[in-house]
Amino acid sequence: MAGKPEVKTITVVGAGTMGHGIAELAAISGHKVYLADISKEILDRALERIKWSLEKLSQKGQLREGVETVLSRITPVVSVKDGEYSEELAKALSESDFMIEAIPERLELKQALFSFADKHAPSHAILATNTSSLPITEIAAATSRPEKVVGMHFFNPPVLMPLVEVIKGEKTSDETVEATVALAKKMGKQTVIVKKDVPGFIVNRILARVMEAACLVVEKGGKNIEEVDATARYTLGFPMGIFELADYSGIDVFYYVFNAMSERGYKAYKCRLFEEKFNAKEFGVKSGKGFYSYPEPGRFVKPAIPREKATVDPLRIIAPAVNEAAWLLRNDVATREDIDKAVKLGLGWPKGVFEYADEYGIDKIVEALKRMKEEYGVDHYEPDPLLLKMVEEGKLGRKTGKGFYEYGEVEEKKMKTIIVRKEKPIAWIILNRPDKLNAISPTMIKELGEALDELEDDNDVRVIILTGAGRAFSAGADVTAFAAVTPIEIAKFSRRFQELTLKMQFYTKPIIVAIKGYALGGGLEIAMSGDIRIASEDAMLGQPEINLGFIPGAGGTQRLPRLVGPSRAKELIMTGDMIPAREAEKMGLVNRVVPPELLEREARSLAMKLAEKPPLALMAAKYAVDYGMESNIWSGLALEAYLFGILFSTEDVIEGVTAFLEKRRPKFKGR
Ligand code: COA
Repeated sequence: MAGKPEVKTITVVGAGTMGHGIAELAAISGHKVYLADISKEILDRALERIKWSLEKLSQKGQLREGVETVLSRITPVVSVKDGEYSEELAKALSESDFMIEAIPERLELKQALFSFADKHAPSHAILATNTSSLPITEIAAATSRPEKVVGMHFFNPPVLMPLVEVIKGEKTSDETVEATVALAKKMGKQTVIVKKDVPGFIVNRILARVMEAACLVVEKGGKNIEEVDATARYTLGFPMGIFELADYSGIDVFYYVFNAMSERGYKAYKCRLFEEKFNAKEFGVKSGKGFYSYPEPGRFVKPAIPREKATVDPLRIIAPAVNEAAWLLRNDVATREDIDKAVKLGLGWPKGVFEYADEYGIDKIVEALKRMKEEYGVDHYEPDPLLLKMVEEGKLGRKTGKGFYEYGEVEEKKMKTIIVRKEKPIAWIILNRPDKLNAISPTMIKELGEALDELEDDNDVRVIILTGAGRAFSAGADVTAFAAVTPIEIAKFSRRFQELTLKMQFYTKPIIVAIKGYALGGGLEIAMSGDIRIASEDAMLGQPEINLGFIPGAGGTQRLPRLVGPSRAKELIMTGDMIPAREAEKMGLVNRVVPPELLEREARSLAMKLAEKPPLALMAAKYAVDYGMESNIWSGLALEAYLFGILFSTEDVIEGVTAFLEKRRPKFKGR
């Protein structure tokens, strides 16, 4: 855009856990980086950590350039000399378009730095803070450019965590927010905008509620830590238990952040469990002991938590989080979409907090809050006015078709390995072995076939969406089923699997495949058998079978070349490499790529669009293309002409033509 200087040079101040990661990201995304901290030792250590991390990324094939090339963009700067900010720092700032501060969470320190940066950075430069607990507005007050001061809150580790919260201080301008969002995107991050500078922003406010609830359920609700964590993991589908997460990220970290939030007016119950651990210096993984014990300090080993322990009412954990989210929404701190996106990307929840609310029912959330308020004596569990209003208006969530979001009528059937959800006129088939990345077992193949047959006979279902629960579409055939089997058994497995892919290909209704995360091996083969593929930005696709000593066995060697051409197909099959969604899009392997939080809605809106089309013509279109592809053009054209002709015997053609002439929307019946 004219007049908007591009961000080329970034100074990152603070080279600790967050700062070094942010500097690494900035360098990977092509920026010249000055990384500043108070001593050479700290900087050396930071550069070592960056190098280690870059090498790891490189080994995983996730770095486009050489490690040295990226490293060469980072210049270390000793920021303090004789107790004053150094000339080197002044010079670095004077050359920078953007500063990101990640120094200790002390207001006077930050204000001093921002005042110094304000004097030395060019007038167009934006000064961002990675604070998680201090007010942006007060930091900005130390400068003469509060409109160019912004919060840019990364998550740990910045290189891997996909989210950045962009926070507006009282005076932050929209241009500054835009430029910060653009920079975060260039660093490969997704952003949410926090429109008001509230303590804890979105993610920490909601996380604090969940941790507080977990604590109360143990301290006052007679449950134990494992029962809470099993419920979080297995019932709510969180990536980790709640106490497990505290251990993982550091009990001390949460202790400080939550205390800082409380000091700024965030009402919270003072959790004894956390306090005891903190005082005993049992911080979690880093100390070798926290709520769980670890074999050696610093090495995370997932605590074994049995599924049977998931005995806590999940509403007791999610309801306070929903209440907090409702507060954020009602006070216009963030949009509904951004709040859901923030918990999905910042906390790895499989669903947004409002999506949980709609699923459990807003009335149930309100009841749970009232119950908890009374039983635990926690006043701030008073249900938010927004929730009470929704209940009054009958907006109870999925069950009434309207809650935070709108839904069609829903009917859900859970089988062993899949979920079939009818939201007429569309139906979802959800691969549901999330803890195994939806690996495809013989049972899943059988259930998918049965579900497809049943949905085919349901005339009210017009379009199928196939997707996966959890963080993957499917990581392929369940390799554990391949142990100690005979060639004939594998051949049978392959034939049945192929039969499923054929059933999908020649299904009489359109099948949309919504791919998030991994679509590998058999997962990709299933995806390729659908009609239209939408992928989320984080999807990774591939046929890795070669790495296990075999080849794709459910149509991969046939459908992949038809979609991307034989030489690209051979490269993918022979190297076994995974490709990111964008590359798959360029090859024509997926139709389009959307941000993860929009995947479900994109798939739904495309399905709704197709559901309004004439079903018989949709089927004919599908057959003309698919059978035509496998024959020569003469047969294909003949088939097209026949199908074209036959469609003229349908009621839908009369309806279509009449509606056109009457200038109204047609209502097709599939007759
Ligand atoms: N079959 C059976 N189980 C599978 C699986 C498969 N194809 N793919 C993943 N899983 C399981 C893992 O064993 C693990 O189970 P656990 O928690 O009980 O140990 C769980 O799913 C999570 O996978 P994990 O490997 O821990 O996740 P990750 O994010 O580190 O790695 C992948 C993800 C996809 C790179 C990795 O799981 C993988 O390479 N999977 C196999 C892919 C493949 O070769 N598919 C073709 C099979 S024919």
